[in-house]
Amino acid sequence: MDLDARAPLRDAVAAADPPLATPALVIDLDTVDRNIAALQRLCGTRTRWRPHVKTVKQGALIGRLLAAGVRTFKCASAAELALVLATADAHGVAVDVLWAYPLGRVGITELERVVTHWPGHTLGVLADDADHLMWLAQRAPSPVLLWLDVDLGMHRTGSPPEHWNAHASVVAARSDRLGGIHGYEGHIAAGDRAGARQAHDALVELARRLPAAPVLHTSGSVTLLDAVAHDDLHDRRWIHEIGAGTLVLGDVACATVGRRIGAAPAAFVAARPTPDRITLDAGSKAITPDRPPPSCIVLGHAELRAMTASEEHLPCAIDPERSTTLRRDDLVLLVPDHVCTTVNLYREAVLARTDRLVGVTAIEASGRATLGDL
Ligand SMILES: Cc1ncc(COP(=O)(O)O)c(C=O)c1O
Repeated sequence: MDLDARAPLRDAVAAADPPLATPALVIDLDTVDRNIAALQRLCGTRTRWRPHVKTVKQGALIGRLLAAGVRTFKCASAAELALVLATADAHGVAVDVLWAYPLGRVGITELERVVTHWPGHTLGVLADDADHLMWLAQRAPSPVLLWLDVDLGMHRTGSPPEHWNAHASVVAARSDRLGGIHGYEGHIAAGDRAGARQAHDALVELARRLPAAPVLHTSGSVTLLDAVAHDDLHDRRWIHEIGAGTLVLGDVACATVGRRIGAAPAAFVAARPTPDRITLDAGSKAITPDRPPPSCIVLGHAELRAMTASEEHLPCAIDPERSTTLRRDDLVLLVPDHVCTTVNLYREAVLARTDRLVGVTAIEASGRATLGDL
């Protein structure tokens, strides 16, 4: 990845006075705004964008999505849901949020607290199977919408299309509460066009057989281009949505898709090496704790390769063909391999605008934030 374009940001972070303690999360708001615009351009009028906020987890960036006109969101936790609603209220707008999780008894209690505290918004939850749909219809506070979660091969949540087909009458009986059909094909690797096609075909076929569902929801950042290009996902009978969230901040894993749509990494971990070798102060408590190495790219230092991290240390191997110019106290910017789990490690982010630092913001829903005393 090219440092030239990011050198002004790296220099601004390195010149911070007092010096920025590392590791630190740095977010370039100009790039965030361009990424949001790129996703809106891509979706155009054929597809509605419902960004998953598990990536950003902070009111400041949810505010930027709202300012760009986004009104539909997706979240994974009660804290993220609460944050979206509190931010929407602060902006004086109503939003539609899908809590994309098959809730049990405790989750429903949290949902009740949220609905009571932030009325006036449209909320939805996922039904895992037909029994769960019936249970939710009785237990989920009205008017929370119920979405059919379709397992398209990820085998994480939801039920396969055949299950929903076989229980079409149960779905029909709850059609007044139906929010839509949710098919997240997160198991499909980038570039597996045939796999994406198969998953999307299965979803379309299901949607055509079931009683009218208002919305057909697919796709994270890796498969969104396949979904946008799939003609049958766009049908007058429903609205097609995509739930991509990672591309708002970008990371190494979705960099190829990002380049194709005009989005770029906007979140970096600032780090410094130890004095005697290149071990950065950005271990698994600072960046991408959930993937095999390398956890990141060291911007502007192609000679360095991140090795296995321990909690506070990230040893880097130096390419034997090249030497490194990195010295003690130099600051580097790291592009996380997985930005979502990286953001989750921080309680605050340093905000920048291309070549200058502009402030600090809380990441309210990071860690295992709860609803607290609500
Ligand atoms: C259910 C669901 N929807 C949407 C997304 C967003 O996908 P991405 O992070 O690739 O943008 C995720 C990511 O994990 C997800 O689990």
